[in-house]
Amino acid sequence: MTRLLVWDIPVRLFHWSLVALVGLSFYTMKTEGAPFAFPVEIHARSGYLLLGLLLFRWLWGLLGSRHARFSSFLRSPGCTIDYGRRLLGGRPPAFAGHNPLGGVMVLVMLLSLSFQAVSGLFMTDDIFFSAPLNGWVGDDAVAFFQSFHHLNANLLVVLIAGHLLALVVHRVKGERLVGAMFTGRKALERRPEDEPDAGLKSRVASLWLALALGALSALPVIWLWHA
Ligand code: HEM
Ligand code: HEM
Repeated sequence: MTRLLVWDIPVRLFHWSLVALVGLSFYTMKTEGAPFAFPVEIHARSGYLLLGLLLFRWLWGLLGSRHARFSSFLRSPGCTIDYGRRLLGGRPPAFAGHNPLGGVMVLVMLLSLSFQAVSGLFMTDDIFFSAPLNGWVGDDAVAFFQSFHHLNANLLVVLIAGHLLALVVHRVKGERLVGAMFTGRKALERRPEDEPDAGLKSRVASLWLALALGALSALPVIWLWHA
């Protein structure tokens, strides 16, 4: 058995910040939002931070370390279907990064979360809160974004439930994925189908790149925060 470093620090920080902020976003809208006096304000700020995080992840998916890149985990439909078949057959091949089905799921989650955060920028609660871009578009567009935000929130619940269920299925099949999202290291009993990233540990330069992209992604957040 080998333990490979697959998730770099930016991916891990991204994931657990995402979980905390998505949790806060749902909490502030689906409950009374105690102890916050104005839960919708907290909801919006959590959304701005999510927007920054997601912007960072899109950039990191293009420029980051190997397993963070979309090109490494988005595979052809044929390859993805083949993986699904072998998973159902009980012996899925090992992957160092996201497996082909997981990769599709990650892309769909990132898209849905990004659309959710952007649509929120045009919303109003019709009482006292208007999001920063609400005045930029007409009533019809605002109505569209409002209904999209509500529908997509339901889709997100389904996607997150599917994500957690997939982790349970992998656990039953003997793959422990959750620990790897904390430590970055994945235990592999077989040779992975995708080539592991041997240089991940030593790539200090990529941390500087992550910091630069993080600073870039923070710019719209700072603007929205003060808008
Ligand atoms: C990824 C980020 C976001 C998530 C996960 C999210 C999630 C949600 C959820 C679950 C609801 C309740 C929908 C329902 O009850 O059907 C909601 C409503 C709402 N969200 Fe978001 N949201 C996000 C971003 C934003 C942003 C950035 C803003 C504004 C700046 C915003 C403003 C609102 C408003 C105004 C409502 C409706 C309140 C009402 O109808 O009274 N959201 N959001
Ligand atoms: C709000 C709830 C959640 C959302 C929106 C979410 C979203 C995501 C996303 C977008 C990724 C891809 C990471 C990347 O490549 O950047 C991912 C991966 C992952 N998530 Fe979550 N996640 C959630 C909750 C959780 C929870 C509660 C756990 C653990 C119990 C978890 C464990 C994992 C693991 C282990 C992976 C890597 C899967 C693999 O090895 O391919 N997630 N998640």
